[in-house]
Amino acid sequence: MVDQHTKQRTQDLLEVEDLSTHFFTPEGIVRAVDGVDLRMKQGRILGIVGESGCGKTVLALTIMRLIPDPPGKIVTGHVFFQGVDLTTLDAQEMRSIRGNKISMIFQEPMSSLNPVFTIGSQIAEVFLLHQKDEASNKSRALEMSIEMLKRVGIENPEKRIKDYPHQLSGGMCQRIMIAMALACKPELMIADEPTTALDVTTQAQILDLMIALQQDSGTSIILVTHDLGVVAQTCQDVAVMYTGKVVEFAGVSDIFSQPLHPYTKGLMKSIPKVGAGLTGKKLLAISGNVPTFKNMPDGCTFHDRCPEVMEKCYLQAPPMFRPEKGHCVRCWRHEG
Ligand SMILES: Nc1ncnc2c1ncn2[C@@H]1O[C@H](COP(=O)(O)OP(=O)(O)OP(=O)(O)O)[C@@H](O)[C@H]1O
Ligand SMILES: [Mg+2]
Repeated sequence: MVDQHTKQRTQDLLEVEDLSTHFFTPEGIVRAVDGVDLRMKQGRILGIVGESGCGKTVLALTIMRLIPDPPGKIVTGHVFFQGVDLTTLDAQEMRSIRGNKISMIFQEPMSSLNPVFTIGSQIAEVFLLHQKDEASNKSRALEMSIEMLKRVGIENPEKRIKDYPHQLSGGMCQRIMIAMALACKPELMIADEPTTALDVTTQAQILDLMIALQQDSGTSIILVTHDLGVVAQTCQDVAVMYTGKVVEFAGVSDIFSQPLHPYTKGLMKSIPKVGAGLTGKKLLAISGNVPTFKNMPDGCTFHDRCPEVMEKCYLQAPPMFRPEKGHCVRCWRHEG
């Protein structure tokens, strides 16, 4: 089905090339994703991090081809998944990729569950649809759902499958969403802020669950978050986004030991440290606000907030530089 879309490429699981998704609104063009390049190897956990509005969700939805059109459009670029350019697939081909190879956990878990069906029937439905061979009938699919609930750490799964979404806590809903995503047996799971609404203990449990999935089943995961602490705990690679662009990309240990982009350095300083609250000092946040599409600065879009700004930054947008192997940064300070 996909031969004509397949290009001979290196064996990365996912390769995003110069991807731009813009929204054409009556107020103007919102360049939500604006020339993103990314590579992801099979079996890794990649974090996508950045402040609210920097384009994380739009990037994830573009990879899934779930951008509402109108007003959204992929205006440039490619998304190669296992060598197949997803941007060229028709709706039916894309549906088969979405169900079987890539699944997504959305930012608001509650709104993704159907309030009028039990948890069991919703998970069983996914098995019946995506694992037809094994889930040959409804009762087998329900058994598989119970197994899956155990796997994602839900106690008393035999009882829980009869519950409706409103009877579950936020943490449980999030586990159900992960169970449903896994029932598709995806090769890539995209989780958009899967722990943001949860308390710290539940957050840690869900992140541990993701790591276990990656280690036990080799599932590749993209974890979208605004929290560098979550990245440190969970991911192996990280892409930092700002105004629709990836401004820094590296392995997690490199980013934390040697952040290069002034924006990444600012995000690091905003991570709360144990005991810091006792001093009564405010968290060191990055000064200023994320620009909107109406007041997007020329040159480097971070220049008006940047403590390391140079004259060139006002005039010209920096390309991606690669000062070290596997470490890329979009900042004039690292030119040449
Ligand atoms: N349907 C839409 N129409 C117009 N603009 C949109 C639409 N969806 C998203 N945007 C804009 O695209 C930009 C990126 O939004 P996105 O939701 O990707 O941010 P985010 O990084 O996921 O933020 P958050 O951390 O708050 O979830 C924002 O300026 C947003 O207002
Ligand atoms: Mg988002």
